Amino acid sequence: MNTIEQASNLKKNNEEKSYEKNIQHLDIYKCYQQSPYRSAKHSSYFQVYAELLEQYRNKPITFVEIGVLNGGSLFMWRSYFGTSARIIGIDFNPLAKRWADDGFEIHIGSQADPEFWKDFFKKIGDVDIVLDDGGHTYEQQIITAHTCIPHIKNGGLLIVEDTHTSYFKDFGYPSKYSFIEWAKKLVDNINSRFPAVKVSTLLYKNSIYSVSFFESIVSFRIQRDKCFESAPTANDGISINAQDFRYQEIQDKLSIFASNAEDAKWKKKLKKSLVKRIAKLKILKLKQYF
Ligand SMILES: C[S@@+](CC[C@H](N)C(=O)[O-])C[C@H]1O[C@@H](n2cnc3c(N)ncnc32)[C@H](O)[C@@H]1O
Repeated sequence: MNTIEQASNLKKNNEEKSYEKNIQHLDIYKCYQQSPYRSAKHSSYFQVYAELLEQYRNKPITFVEIGVLNGGSLFMWRSYFGTSARIIGIDFNPLAKRWADDGFEIHIGSQADPEFWKDFFKKIGDVDIVLDDGGHTYEQQIITAHTCIPHIKNGGLLIVEDTHTSYFKDFGYPSKYSFIEWAKKLVDNINSRFPAVKVSTLLYKNSIYSVSFFESIVSFRIQRDKCFESAPTANDGISINAQDFRYQEIQDKLSIFASNAEDAKWKKKLKKSLVKRIAKLKILKLKQYF
């Protein structure tokens, strides 16, 4: 088989791959295929990009990608976002500087170095989107997130790719300090905006509005004006004074037992043990879902 035949067979195989059907209609995938330089992205990423990034197209945004390698993704982003977007690439490899000739802004440094980021944001100012496709170690991902979040504008995003490394032995799995474990903590962070919940001491409860978990991607929406402490509200509609049946089941059980008990002391004892038993049964019931 000659090279052309091999290439056409490879193309045919790719076309037969089921994921192609799901993504080939997406503009971002077309931009990826048309990029003149090589880029390698997982097939599941394009639908996530389309979902997260569509609203930023043809707007004067500042988009930063960590990880340049062969330059292919820089061209993909430029054709996807349009010419009004400022596309910035960051890599540790000084060779990446060559893409500056094609109109991209390139910065050389390590994403795991907080000093690099300090200098970067001093020069560039705040940005709209940071996409981390760098080295994918926990240290790189966490330091990048921690240092970039304060510099992402309201309405912006931090997107971290290849988060499956949190499950790779080579990267340290299993570890309490993986990127995914860090990201899971942000669930507590967000819920700590509810006044009665104080389970997180992380810093981002006033900046991260939401976190989305996709396969191999975690995305953080930065929207400070939506991160206010919540408070109970009610409208002015007529109340028919309906009883809240939340505890009715337990109340019913308690009243049967209580009516069988003769004196107040026994009633109290019975109630206590019944509440305990009901709680135990509830846990047994719940365990099957975990
Ligand atoms: C997965 S590749 C990037 C691929 C590119 N985004 C694409 O789609 O074609 C990862 C890149 O991250 C760079 N990198 C690795 N460690 C880094 C670090 N600590 N700081 C900045 N860049 C780093 C590597 O030099 C490499 O070019």
